[in-house]
Amino acid sequence: MRGKFITLEGIDGAGKSTHLAWLVERLRSRGLGVVQTREPGGTPLGEKLRALLLADPMHQDTETLLMFAARREHLARVIVPALEAGDWVVSDRFTDATFAYQGGGRGLDWNRIAALEHWVQGPVQPDLTLLFDLPEEVAAMRLQGTGAAPDRFEQEKTDFFARVRQAYLRRATESPARFRIIDSRKGVGEIQKALEVIFTTV
Ligand code: TYD
Repeated sequence: MRGKFITLEGIDGAGKSTHLAWLVERLRSRGLGVVQTREPGGTPLGEKLRALLLADPMHQDTETLLMFAARREHLARVIVPALEAGDWVVSDRFTDATFAYQGGGRGLDWNRIAALEHWVQGPVQPDLTLLFDLPEEVAAMRLQGTGAAPDRFEQEKTDFFARVRQAYLRRATESPARFRIIDSRKGVGEIQKALEVIFTTV
């Protein structure tokens, strides 16, 4: 049987990384084979592209094309083979992030991204996408609190993240069956309970 493809999304600072490790553990405790991965990245080539994407200034079209180049590799070498082998794949970000960051944040045309999505993915879509949703001001405060050096995206201003957030919510409205929106203002324990409920039906 084909495995399930789960993606986690949200603006920087929304806390998805905290829940990712816990979720993978929960699924493994059910006896499932789970591949934990991330975008941009997930393959040796993809991780090299990630390093460029997070650090080097570039044109927004270049940024979008590199995101999809990394994704093509990720799908071909990791995601599709794992799903076909019956494993579940849990990815820290996927194509919704390109609609949100390059579409919403940078203002790239939505239809161009949709064309690349179609080319690179064909019919492959996540079975379930968890959107960790948080007001951009709260996320900015949380990011400041970590003390880590901000990457090229994290250096963006709050209004960039406001647009990213709205684009994520637009994606959720366009594919309501695939998305579950998690209110990230809630505490870790409460969110874990919400995730338990969601995964009883997946
Ligand atoms: P992120 O997932 O937040 O990793 P970390 O928790 O290690 O910082 O970093 C990836 C960044 O890449 C994030 O700011 C969003 C951005 N991104 C895009 O702009 N477009 C995309 O298509 C993807 C997958 C990520």
